[in-house]
Amino acid sequence: MNYPDRGKWGDTRYRGNCSGYVIRDLLEHFKPHQFHEIFAGGGTGYDVARELGYENSIHLDLNPRFGNWNALEDEMPEGSDFLFAHDPYHDIIKYSGNMWGKPHKDDLSRCPSYEDFLRKINHVHAKMYASLRKGGRMAILTGDIRRKGEYFSIARDMALIGKLDSWIIKTQHNCESNRKQYAGSFIPIVHEHLLIFRKDDLWFVPIKINQNFQQDLRESLKVTWRDLIQATFEQIGRAASLKELYEVIENTARAKKNQHWHEKIRQTLQINEEFSSVSRGVWRYTPKGKSLAI
Ligand SMILES: C[S@@+](CC[C@H](N)C(=O)[O-])C[C@H]1O[C@@H](n2cnc3c(N)ncnc32)[C@H](O)[C@@H]1O
Repeated sequence: MNYPDRGKWGDTRYRGNCSGYVIRDLLEHFKPHQFHEIFAGGGTGYDVARELGYENSIHLDLNPRFGNWNALEDEMPEGSDFLFAHDPYHDIIKYSGNMWGKPHKDDLSRCPSYEDFLRKINHVHAKMYASLRKGGRMAILTGDIRRKGEYFSIARDMALIGKLDSWIIKTQHNCESNRKQYAGSFIPIVHEHLLIFRKDDLWFVPIKINQNFQQDLRESLKVTWRDLIQATFEQIGRAASLKELYEVIENTARAKKNQHWHEKIRQTLQINEEFSSVSRGVWRYTPKGKSLAI
């Protein structure tokens, strides 16, 4: 999906506004009877809906222009067969106290942490989905963000609520935060995600939740002896004696599973060009293509 021109709809000065073509194409494709939008913001969806003849579409936002409707507290006012939400980008663009009114405690662009934002946005999406009529669709436009050098993909991290119908990558144009904060320092984010979910069942909701966990490579049998020795050199940070290498590696899953693990380490040191002998019983690691040796 690529719309270099955002179109005439809505307030172009409302930061983080989306192209009206996205909403227009969705409505023309799915032809819903009742269209509701949350996070209506600068009125893009409202203008598109009126132009296409949706006289009774509902557009909600915490922004007083769209009724001070609080997605965390207030109920969806009616059911519908098509919902569109263009979510805030965590705290990258602040809305209350910036684009409108005073800072609001339930403004999703003012969540104290990314985890808090995800928990709340999941709650909002679940509420939206529950209000859909059977066979209805919920389209969510959301972005990836970079915060303090860390990359977050909201679409990947949020719960996927409903049957996934389409996952569309949309090119992002004229994103001010990319130009301002990241020019030159990082690869800019020039895409967004448009996820479309379908409500196939009245009562049962398919939900996919992404989990974060850490694996300790020392406890894994997927690492090779070479991997283990490389990491051990990196941990020690200099040339190391066999005794030092043994001390780190002896508690790994690989060593515990192989009674000849000492021999395995010595053999691995000998057959890999990245490892070289410094003196009797002392080895070092020289990453290929670098002049720096460890
Ligand atoms: C990315 S903007 C939507 C922009 C809109 N699509 C447009 O083109 O102008 C996200 C919106 O979420 C609204 N918002 C943030 N927290 C909210 C909440 N708790 N309830 C309702 N709206 C909220 C903000 O006011 C903002 O307008």
